[in-house]
Amino acid sequence: MKKVMVLLLVLMVTGASFIFANGATEAPATATSAPAKKLIVVGYAQVGAESDWRTANTESFKSTFVEANGYKLIFDDAQQKQENQIKAIRNFIQQDVDYIVVAPVVETGWETVLGEAKAAGIPVILSDRQMKLSDDSLYTAWVGGNFLKEGQDGVKWLNDYVAKNGLANKDLNMVLLQGTIGSSAQVGRTQGITEGIAKNPKYHLLAKQTGEFTQAKGQEVMESFLKAYPKIDVVFAENDNMAFGAIDAIKAVGKVPGKDIIIISFDAVHEAFNKMIAGELNADVECNPLHGPRVAEIIQKLEAGQKVDKIMYVTEGSFDTTNAKEILPTRKY
Ligand code: AHR
Repeated sequence: MKKVMVLLLVLMVTGASFIFANGATEAPATATSAPAKKLIVVGYAQVGAESDWRTANTESFKSTFVEANGYKLIFDDAQQKQENQIKAIRNFIQQDVDYIVVAPVVETGWETVLGEAKAAGIPVILSDRQMKLSDDSLYTAWVGGNFLKEGQDGVKWLNDYVAKNGLANKDLNMVLLQGTIGSSAQVGRTQGITEGIAKNPKYHLLAKQTGEFTQAKGQEVMESFLKAYPKIDVVFAENDNMAFGAIDAIKAVGKVPGKDIIIISFDAVHEAFNKMIAGELNADVECNPLHGPRVAEIIQKLEAGQKVDKIMYVTEGSFDTTNAKEILPTRKY
């Protein structure tokens, strides 16, 4: 009898199931609660923090991939170095994340590490910049801006400006501040800009050089352009932060940015609107950084077993001094 009492006590304390004669079991009478939904773990290999655009892009991911939305985000800042991104992707594989998201610093050199992700069965989603791959099955989907079109739109704005302001017969000397060489943002924009310039015999591209998408480097390169070429009429800056650096360099030599030298930029971040309103920046072609919700939508579709488009371009606009003031209050970054 004592043994039976002890056994009953043990079963009560451990909450063990009772076994019935027919072999069926009854679950212990504990309070029932719905099992917690498993968070989707996403590793994001970010380029770095080189520009206002990038900061907005990081914020977009950090505010989207939160626990309240069912995610755990593992964020890695590669400081603009491809080797750091490769390391980050390997870490994500080791941690067995559910999805890997990459904004690749440059276009090439990804086959090996993406092959490792594929072997581990982890889908890779590309965002912002693209990769040039020998095997497109190494990634599931890409979402971002059309960099070639952005470059073309920058030249289109200049062509319209030249026509409207009676400058068609004037020779125009130009310089180009390029982004990180080998990044799809640089490759596409440079192609669009240089091909557009080459179509007009009055346009003369004096020089092009990378400013690494940063304000400091943009300023430094613009200073060297201004020393080398006494007559510059137009600057194309492949992102806003380099344009801000160029504006400072132009002011430092006593010239008036936006008047003595026309400046066309890319991104269209808040500060660029302020500079257009001040007349220091003439035009800006949009590159939208708010990819967090777009990538989340792709993931949700994949989770639901739905097909997703392989390539998704974001619609983007162009702005200038004539509409900057009116548009600024509507901007989200
Ligand atoms: O890939 C997008 C580009 O990268 C943005 O134009 C630039 O600001 C960023 O650093």
